[in-house]
Amino acid sequence: MGVTIKTAEEIEKMRIAGRLAADVLRMIEPHVQPGITTQALNDICHKYMVDEQKVVPAPLNYRGFPRSICTSVNHVVCHGIPAEKTLKNGDIINIDITVIKDGYHGDTSRMFMVGKATVQGQRISQIAYECMKIGIEMIKPGIRLGDIGHAIQSHAEKNNCSIVREYCGHGIGQVFHEDPQVLHYGKPDTGLVLEAGMTFTIEPMLNLGKRQVKLLPDDWTVVTKDHSLSAQWEHTNLVTEDGFEILTLHPDYGF
Ligand code: MF3
Ligand code: CO
Ligand code: CO
Repeated sequence: MGVTIKTAEEIEKMRIAGRLAADVLRMIEPHVQPGITTQALNDICHKYMVDEQKVVPAPLNYRGFPRSICTSVNHVVCHGIPAEKTLKNGDIINIDITVIKDGYHGDTSRMFMVGKATVQGQRISQIAYECMKIGIEMIKPGIRLGDIGHAIQSHAEKNNCSIVREYCGHGIGQVFHEDPQVLHYGKPDTGLVLEAGMTFTIEPMLNLGKRQVKLLPDDWTVVTKDHSLSAQWEHTNLVTEDGFEILTLHPDYGF
């Protein structure tokens, strides 16, 4: 299946799904405190999504994933499985929320500092955020995905952080992960030329150390090989006639 161009009706549904996903992150923020388990965060989000929002948590049973959200702590790069693991002061955690509403997906994630942030934790989170923002701000018809990947990679490497290559952003709509693949590295003037109506995520994963990753035996959890801290931020975005619209923006958050 190639890259799809969404109709006005589909875009309206994507806006609704995107806002709902953003609302889950906003809802969970005050719960991210030392002493809580990632399982408890999952359960709070699951209940909110199913009982209040009436959405389907897309991760649950997706290719066998056993929980409703992903929680990736410290050196976990992505796809961390919520479990009876207690968060402690100074941890960093990415919470990744994907909802399905009326058949359409909204996918967003962000970093939270647990208790008092460490300098290194704050730093990797900040650079990862900047990388996402730089990428999103380039979105407009005519620009190429390689231009975006290159800008993201350059910003990460300029700051002595590395970009994970094994996982990427993705087209999104009725399908969770559809074309195109959105690499967070690359060469200018290469790759797909963007057109209005495309919807895709930008979700760079940055490591403080080397870029290499390892998959744990649970077949989901991705960690940095050198155990350095990793951070990720993600938004679902629409290419508009003259730029972009972030579909997973929450009015309480800047970007
Ligand atoms: N939300 C993730 C993404 O950004 C995908 C999670 S798949 C899961 O694409 F199965 F781990 F939930
Ligand atoms: Co995604
Ligand atoms: Co996601």
